Amino acid sequence: MQATHVRVFKNDTHRIYHGEALEVLNSEIPDGSVDLIFADPPYNIGKRFVDFEDKWPSDAEYAKWCEKWLNACISKLKANGSLYIMTSTQCMPYLDIYLRDRLSILARIVWHYDSSGVQAKKKFGSMYEPILFCVKDEGNYTFNGADIKVEARTGATRKLIDYRKPQPTQYNTTKIPGNVWPFPRVRYRMPEYEEHPSQKPEALLERIIKVSSNPGDVILDPFSGTFTTGAVAKRLGRQSIGIERELQYIKIGLRRLGICSELDGELLKALDKSYVRRNSLSSRFTDNQQSLFEE
Ligand SMILES: C[S@@+](CC[C@H](N)C(=O)[O-])C[C@H]1O[C@@H](n2cnc3c(N)ncnc32)[C@H](O)[C@@H]1O
Repeated sequence: MQATHVRVFKNDTHRIYHGEALEVLNSEIPDGSVDLIFADPPYNIGKRFVDFEDKWPSDAEYAKWCEKWLNACISKLKANGSLYIMTSTQCMPYLDIYLRDRLSILARIVWHYDSSGVQAKKKFGSMYEPILFCVKDEGNYTFNGADIKVEARTGATRKLIDYRKPQPTQYNTTKIPGNVWPFPRVRYRMPEYEEHPSQKPEALLERIIKVSSNPGDVILDPFSGTFTTGAVAKRLGRQSIGIERELQYIKIGLRRLGICSELDGELLKALDKSYVRRNSLSSRFTDNQQSLFEE
């Protein structure tokens, strides 16, 4: 049964829910129906998402909030499904401890990026965000390693021979990536940039979706933001379900997923990035936009 204040937009392969993640998960998504979940919730670090300030009274209360929607997510996953979750470095330990009793955590991934902007003066600056890769059944899950191979630099580029094998052979030139993933953050001038304070790069989602789902699979993102997950799922021939509480971001999703070009009489247009007045605008810029001035 549809909750009263949830609005749904859809076409044949993609669905967008405007509402609260937990409520939509409980009322709209059948149990055991999803192949892959990518969850990128607020990080409890005080960012502002339109009307919502991402700050809980304590890390423990934030963790309690996460546990509720994580339980719902686990129920929605198929028996061979996978869950990727991101949060802040300081809050991830709570979620790691909670999830290791409920799912198998197969990898603790570090999304590493460089920052040439404001540098920390009295501590080590933050240059990564953690990602957990979990599955319901470690004996049965999708892992298309061949689809995400990267260049194997050591050995292969120097044309070294591996003499440890029974038959000496050259090192492989490609490999499945390790658990440190270097992807640049989304910058203002990049075509994929949308107006949002914590948009994730398409390249990051592309790796996750390619390796942990197959064409036609259903991918769920309960905190969709700019709908990066849906946009990449669409490009890769997967189905998507996205949930987001802020109407401003729903409009981005509707446009990115091609569900409609107009909402309530408003034309859904991409951001015009043709001209930026550096000085007068810089004070209003979000973190992502601010990076324009860092380079
Ligand atoms: C970290 S951002 C997600 C960014 C997204 N991965 C992207 O690439 O754009 C978290 C999003 O969750 C939304 N949000 C916060 N609380 C929510 C809730 N209870 N239900 C649904 N969405 C929520 C925020 O508005 C924000 O857009």
